[in-house]
Amino acid sequence: MSTARIVVLVSGSGTNLQALLDAADDPDYGVRIVAVGADRDEIEGLARAERHGIPTFTRRVSDFETREGWDNAMATLVSWFEPDLVVCAGFMKLLGQEFLDQFVTLNTHPALCPSFPGMHGPRDALDYGVKVTGATLFVVDGGVDTGPIVAQTTVPVEADDDVESLHERIKVAERT
Ligand code: GAR
Repeated sequence: MSTARIVVLVSGSGTNLQALLDAADDPDYGVRIVAVGADRDEIEGLARAERHGIPTFTRRVSDFETREGWDNAMATLVSWFEPDLVVCAGFMKLLGQEFLDQFVTLNTHPALCPSFPGMHGPRDALDYGVKVTGATLFVVDGGVDTGPIVAQTTVPVEADDDVESLHERIKVAERT
């Protein structure tokens, strides 16, 4: 069986990355995480990769004159690792077309797409009053959480949920 080379992009605590790191420890999983990239420094996601001995890199949008410049820099760095796939695991920046033309990129969204796109899926689901929400794995296209859906899982909204408790339960579902 061939092993897929994956670059993972993170912006935060990296619990989804941790699930991937743990899964990829099993050779039968068929995935090798070759690098972890971020758009900010000093996040737990990068620390998790470093503890696993995986190369990391950071490029901050604010260090570039244009968004295209940042997107180019990310694409160049990612290309050095020759991935078969890029996986966004809580990566909170939109990638540009130049990047997406070069790499098949997956992302997760903490809601049932096409509902509640954007940065606040759990909050928006709670505000709307839905009784069931969930998580979506999708192929990133040029839009906000609009790409082809690969998989979805449902999560019930409990009467006493707040944004934090609901998002935490969604994150557990995302990792399984
Ligand atoms: C996850 O719930 C993921 O779906 C979400 O951020 C969380 C990251 O958690 N991603 C987005 O909202 C992307 N727009 P983690 O850093 O603990 O893996």
